[in-house]
Amino acid sequence: MTGPRLVLVGPMGVGKSTIGHLVAERLGLVYRDTDDDIVTAEGREISDIFVDDGEEHFRALERAAVRTALAEHEGVLALGGGAVLDAGTRALLRDHPVVFLTMDIDEAVRRTGLATARPLLAVNPRRTWRELMEARRPLYTEVARATVATDDRTPEEVALAVLDAL
Ligand code: S3P
Repeated sequence: MTGPRLVLVGPMGVGKSTIGHLVAERLGLVYRDTDDDIVTAEGREISDIFVDDGEEHFRALERAAVRTALAEHEGVLALGGGAVLDAGTRALLRDHPVVFLTMDIDEAVRRTGLATARPLLAVNPRRTWRELMEARRPLYTEVARATVATDDRTPEEVALAVLDAL
């Protein structure tokens, strides 16, 4: 079927963008990211959308962006970390080659510790991470055909593991 050759899911800061670009380059495909699509369409940053209009509004924009990208993109697609919260999105993802990128909590807190661009982590990042992952891990697992751990691996090694998993 048509659609993305690879869809990357996983938490914020796990490296979906870095790995997605590397895999796209290897396969001679175009990389696309639904967060970027939303920022371009809205003409403002995601943190501003959260502050101005709230998370629920952002999720509605995200739902629409994911549907459009799944329907029209034929390269590598990365989804925002919370895209899998939507049951309709999860149902659509069943028809696509989805890979779940993981990392342990210590690594997650370290990588995203200074990331003011991620509004969900502004307060108590460690506890937030634990809660987010407890809630979301089953959702990522539900949609993924393969899971690839990023801890203690270079981006190139992770990209090769993703290619192997396809
Ligand atoms: C979010 C992840 C972010 C972005 C928004 C919400 C989340 O995307 O969509 O800040 O709920 O996990 P990245 O995973 O690309 O950072």
